Amino acid sequence: MGHLHRFRLVDDLPGLLRLLLLLVLAMAAATSNALDAGYYAATCPDAEAIVSNAMSRLHYNDPTLAPALIRLLFHDCFVRGCDASVLISPTPRYSSERAAIPNHTLRGFPAVDAVKRALEAACPGAVSCADALALMARDAVSLLGGARYGVALGRRDGTQSNPWEVDLPAPFARLDDVLAYFAARGFSAEEAVVLLGGGHTVGGAHCGSFRYRLTQPDGTMDEQVRCEMLDACGAADLPLDTDPATFLDPDTPFAVDNNYYAQLMVNRTLLQVDQEAATHHATAHHVAYYAASNDAFLQRFAEAMEKLSNVGVLEGDAGEVRKVCSRYNT
Ligand code: HEM
Repeated sequence: MGHLHRFRLVDDLPGLLRLLLLLVLAMAAATSNALDAGYYAATCPDAEAIVSNAMSRLHYNDPTLAPALIRLLFHDCFVRGCDASVLISPTPRYSSERAAIPNHTLRGFPAVDAVKRALEAACPGAVSCADALALMARDAVSLLGGARYGVALGRRDGTQSNPWEVDLPAPFARLDDVLAYFAARGFSAEEAVVLLGGGHTVGGAHCGSFRYRLTQPDGTMDEQVRCEMLDACGAADLPLDTDPATFLDPDTPFAVDNNYYAQLMVNRTLLQVDQEAATHHATAHHVAYYAASNDAFLQRFAEAMEKLSNVGVLEGDAGEVRKVCSRYNT
């Protein structure tokens, strides 16, 4: 009866007023759980500064770390959303995402643990690992010369991490499938090209990720690069811990810049999926555009990273705030 009465009241309001009321209600619903730049204003006002200072120190000691963190964010956010599920260590009883093949080559876990320890020392139990990783990846982009973007906060940490849910594409995946995979997570072909080019303009790859392209030339790799890489990698597969690694963008391996697109256009990149983007009808014009404009690339990469940081986040009371990023609380 009470409900009926309320509906009747709304029905009786003049049209404009009713519309306004609905708008206000919709806005309240949309923002009540939304991420917020000031989320830690009361509980950990220095959270961003703590992460940034730690990242500067870590980057100074090891400039190869920043790319690893950008990749960690991608592998976290595209599987179960940005919930730090990728950070959980497998134990003898429970496996985790880290046990899945695409995650075998992830790096940077000790750095996340170190930053989280600094956050816990300043504000125990306040800042989630998912937020810490999003901030670390943001700082990694700017330490490598990319544009700085805002990271809204309030992500919660997931309480599940399953290897069988890791459906990240392989380096030999067909680009059509990769574009469908990105589209399923709300990313256009252009955004996929921006993230691939931005991610792979820094950091390295093990020979195991592209060796098959060296021994059986597929006609899409510059012959000089192929011969050099065959020398460096050898033709035989090696276990990961002895497999050589090389820079993805050998010209400017520590710079977030548009150089990778230029390399793509002359068949000088190592990962097959990237190379296909240079000729595929849905992406070739984006590759050419970003190869020609570093400013446009830097801006769009920052936007795409910000969007990536917000995929499928847990908010409100969902999940937990882990004390140690590699372990669930309970
Ligand atoms: C179809 C999508 C993608 C595939 C198949 C892919 C594949 C790979 C592979 C095979 C490696 C080399 C791993 C190794 O051998 O050690 C790599 C490295 C890397 N990827 Fe991706 N990637 C994809 C998308 C992305 C995206 C969207 C980003 C970030 C925005 C990213 C960032 C990175 C970074 C930074 C590295 C270097 C990591 C390091 O130095 O440890 N990747 N990727």
